[in-house]
Amino acid sequence: MFTHEDLKALQAQSLKMQGAIRRQTYSPEREKTLRRFSSWELAELILKVNQSTLRGKMAADPSLPQGQVEEDGRQRWYSLDEVNEIRRKLRINRRSLMPPRPAGRRAIRAAIANFKGGAGKSTVALHFAHAAALDGYRVLCVDFDPQATLSHSMGLTDIAEEYTVWGIMARDLARETERMNASARGAESGTALPRRRIPASIQEMGLMDLRVTDFVKPTAWSTIDLIPSCANAAFVEFASAQYRHLNPEWSFFAAVARYLDQIPADSYDLILFDCPPAIGYQSMNAVFAADVLYIPSGPGYWEYDSTTSFIGQLSEALDDLSQFQGLLPPGTLPLPKAFLDVRFLLTRFEPNNELHRAMQSAFGKVFGPRMTEHPIELTRAVEQSGRFLNSIYETDYREMTRETWRRARGSFDRAYDEFKATLTASWDQMDAEEAA
Ligand SMILES: Nc1ncnc2c1ncn2[C@@H]1O[C@H](COP(=O)(O)OP(=O)(O)O)[C@@H](O)[C@H]1O
Ligand SMILES: [Mg+2]
Repeated sequence: MFTHEDLKALQAQSLKMQGAIRRQTYSPEREKTLRRFSSWELAELILKVNQSTLRGKMAADPSLPQGQVEEDGRQRWYSLDEVNEIRRKLRINRRSLMPPRPAGRRAIRAAIANFKGGAGKSTVALHFAHAAALDGYRVLCVDFDPQATLSHSMGLTDIAEEYTVWGIMARDLARETERMNASARGAESGTALPRRRIPASIQEMGLMDLRVTDFVKPTAWSTIDLIPSCANAAFVEFASAQYRHLNPEWSFFAAVARYLDQIPADSYDLILFDCPPAIGYQSMNAVFAADVLYIPSGPGYWEYDSTTSFIGQLSEALDDLSQFQGLLPPGTLPLPKAFLDVRFLLTRFEPNNELHRAMQSAFGKVFGPRMTEHPIELTRAVEQSGRFLNSIYETDYREMTRETWRRARGSFDRAYDEFKATLTASWDQMDAEEAA
């Protein structure tokens, strides 16, 4: 017979070997790095200016970063920082190349969410993050999924659980509990409430002493940061239920929103959430903090079925939160939760597949204007090669036929352009609401 003691012994055995096994199976590249971008990509795909116009501008101003010449030819190759410097300094017909961003507003927050594993959530999150960074935006990603696909894709592998969303939630519980204990609860509610306890495990981990920025990790992309996840953070679902029991008034679903509100408004332009394939404490935090909800789905019948069930259960879960009405601390977003936009996005779409086209038209009929126009096509160009999953943007086009690369990139680009239009429209709406 096997008890928790035996499982613990097995884990200890595994942990002892973990480092050695990792060294054996992962090699030689242990750190993720970002490639350079060619002058062709810089002009045509990134800045979207005529190649010869750009060449002329670059020649006329030697103070602009000049990139590097690689062995194979005359093209120059630019690092992401050089791309961004060129974007900041260059004017084409007196026009700035910076992407739209309302001044003085905080970053817009978008959750990529659905029930189903394999819907394409992490792939979409990774590609939108990279497309946005190449577009000149500063991006923060939050990995809410203990499967940590996005964290691994971004090169973050050795993460302790206190630096994940679980740490943010536990720290929030401690802070909220202290706030409630300190405030004149009796006078507010008319009854004297008992002091709430902070779980010893949280106190011992020193989570109260972590600063906002301690959770934010840099990635191989200088303008993308990440709040990572790890397998141990799966514990969040179990722990949060216990924490709620200790302090039933803790608005557990607003923990990450409260955390993000402490980040200075101009640190980022876009905050992207990669959600776990479930409705639980973590995904409710993502959804509650999100301005925009993006729901990817595969193009099959069962995926349609599960997407339908997802929005039903999400609706119920959001409805349940209304019990917290009046309990939320001042400054928190009001209940019921309202999104600035909700969109459905088909992924792994094959344009020549009749069933996929039929499902696309069905999705269109059902969701109408909430359905995005451009699905993300199935491509072999984003399959994992080596240790890290690379996006099409990270993949050097010389590694495959130019046609395959362009086709895959084109599909993600069109989906991103539509996503960007949704974001900027939502930003305007946010402006209007705050002004009202
Ligand atoms: N457009 C696509 N083309 C080809 N493979 C894809 C595409 N989108 C996702 N995949 C693959 O499908 C699998 C599941 O995708 P993933 O983004 O991890 O889904 P989720 O995060 O919803 O669980 C991964 O192996 C991924 O590489
Ligand atoms: Mg995922």
